[in-house]
Amino acid sequence: MTAQILDGNALGQKLRAGFKQKAEELAAQGVRPGLAVILVGEDAASQVYVRNKVNACAQAGFYSEKHAYAPDVALRVVLDKIAELNADPKIHGILVQLPLPRHFDADAVLDAIAAEKDVDGFRAENVGALMLGQPCFIPCTPYGAMKFFEDAGISLKGKEAVVVGRSNIVGKPMAMLLMHAGATVTVCHSQTRDLKAHCLRADILVAAIGKPKMITGDMIKPGAVVIDVGINRLQDGPDTGKLCGDVDFAAAREVASFITPVPGGVGPMTITMLLANTLESAERSLNA
Ligand code: GUN
Repeated sequence: MTAQILDGNALGQKLRAGFKQKAEELAAQGVRPGLAVILVGEDAASQVYVRNKVNACAQAGFYSEKHAYAPDVALRVVLDKIAELNADPKIHGILVQLPLPRHFDADAVLDAIAAEKDVDGFRAENVGALMLGQPCFIPCTPYGAMKFFEDAGISLKGKEAVVVGRSNIVGKPMAMLLMHAGATVTVCHSQTRDLKAHCLRADILVAAIGKPKMITGDMIKPGAVVIDVGINRLQDGPDTGKLCGDVDFAAAREVASFITPVPGGVGPMTITMLLANTLESAERSLNA
């Protein structure tokens, strides 16, 4: 079997065209969706992600502003900026790009964002609402993964889903969304015994580990749907410098029924769903 590719660029473009239209409608009512992105430090990957987010806003007709700080900036400076953005009616979403430099208290920074502008869905209020199945901002990466299932008509009811990785950004919210959609969910992590045995049971396999090609072809059940959240840069071998996922794509493609590529899979969908959440926040502000 050669898997069908779940194309994040194509699905992202389709959804973003709709967001652009909605943004124009909102702008006609006096509200242009606005996103503020905060970047602390010089992490090369974060700089690329932030640039892509700002560009995506411009293409969808959203307002955006970027606030970049040196790695040794005082926490107070960033908290003051967040307080200013919380009060700014032009801004409907505030995103602090992670990871923050090690000496920064990430919880203090994320908690400073007003819950109604937390378009990443990382604050405790949002996490709790997601767990309870209440309206909330859904974290963008797992939200994007769910859009792939919806768009490809992949039913999750009664399916065995295995999420590899238990991060707050991806693993935990992904597990919650899959569970709400009717899947039986297993979350694997660094202390899991016999990862391969768990993965081989998965009808839906989500890899969010951060280790290049850790999921090999022999760990995938024939016909499984594979969502690869990893974005790793290869450090050695003939492909040094190239991006690859947490899944050995070439091998997995021969076993799975659907698979997301890296790049061009989950990455563009994360940005797409950030636009979705920002738009939703702008709509809520109009209705408030
Ligand atoms: N770093 C990696 N993924 C994300 C994300 O979805 N949001 C933010 N803010 N930082 C990230």
